[in-house]
Amino acid sequence: MTGRQMKERIIEILREREGYVSGQELCGVLGVSRTAVWKHIRLLREEGYEIASVQNRGYRLCEEPDVIDAFHVQRYAETKWLGRQICYERETGSTNTLAKRLGEQDAENGTVVVAERQTAGRGRRGNTWVSPDGNCYFSVLLRPELRTEQAASVTLVAALALAQAVREASGLDAGIKWPNDIVVDGRKLCGILTESSMEPEYINYIVVGIGINVNQEEFPEELQDKATSIFLASGVRQNRAKLLGGFLGRFEALYEVFLETGDLRGLREEYNSLLVNCGKEVRIIGKEQEERMLAVGIDDSGRLIVEHGNGQRETVLAGEVSVRGLYGYV
Ligand code: BTN
Repeated sequence: MTGRQMKERIIEILREREGYVSGQELCGVLGVSRTAVWKHIRLLREEGYEIASVQNRGYRLCEEPDVIDAFHVQRYAETKWLGRQICYERETGSTNTLAKRLGEQDAENGTVVVAERQTAGRGRRGNTWVSPDGNCYFSVLLRPELRTEQAASVTLVAALALAQAVREASGLDAGIKWPNDIVVDGRKLCGILTESSMEPEYINYIVVGIGINVNQEEFPEELQDKATSIFLASGVRQNRAKLLGGFLGRFEALYEVFLETGDLRGLREEYNSLLVNCGKEVRIIGKEQEERMLAVGIDDSGRLIVEHGNGQRETVLAGEVSVRGLYGYV
């Protein structure tokens, strides 16, 4: 057994038990000496695990470090294929850039790239995504057998999974701002940047890149009205591995529903129930003009259905227009 395997096994045993496990039992299960157990407990403590040791009782796991590597995320990810391969970086330029590189190679469908921080995080419309420690930055590599025009809906599937995962983890009333921002109290909590490699007839790969403001304690003044974190909105710090694992489980399940038909008919109702624009007057900002209309919800292909004052309806496509509320961001 390698040193890493030994540490993983110790953590597994301590997690399962929840109470104290004697040093002797650990020696027996692992087939090593007491000194070896002690040495690996010390190494785990150095990695941030809080392990209590009491004479005659043994060891107890009190706290795990807040790390979003494969070992910690997979513990919470109840998935069949998504996130079975996790590429973890303490620091990278952009997880999307790395995932696209893996997409050009032969990385498998469902590979996830995760980083603790990014030095060149990218947002939509050429914006920068500032990426300090304490949040989640990750990208999912997908290789769906879909027509190219169906690819755009994958982002909406991810938005739905993300809103659900944030609600479940934090209890916050997180909603979706069409097409794919997650918002709380009118402020942005998560963003999604989807990039893809397409041939005229088929999709080579799709990278869904997600940034979640999780434990960030402050934002620059100019962003304070527009952005928030789960910690700022709820007052509670999150276990990021649990949040990320929870998202992966939900995304896998919803994505499979989407793949059954190749459109959003099976998810549309749930999506619309979390859509903050629903039933609100919005400004539809196109290239040439800006119009006020009532947002009704999405259709099966993810287009936003909007209603003119005379009751006439039309649909708008993400990317072609930008949707804003009448006051501020949402
Ligand atoms: C947006 O502008 O709303 C989209 C932001 C997407 C940010 C994420 S963080 C992980 C992934 N890597 C990137 O460089 N961007 C996405």
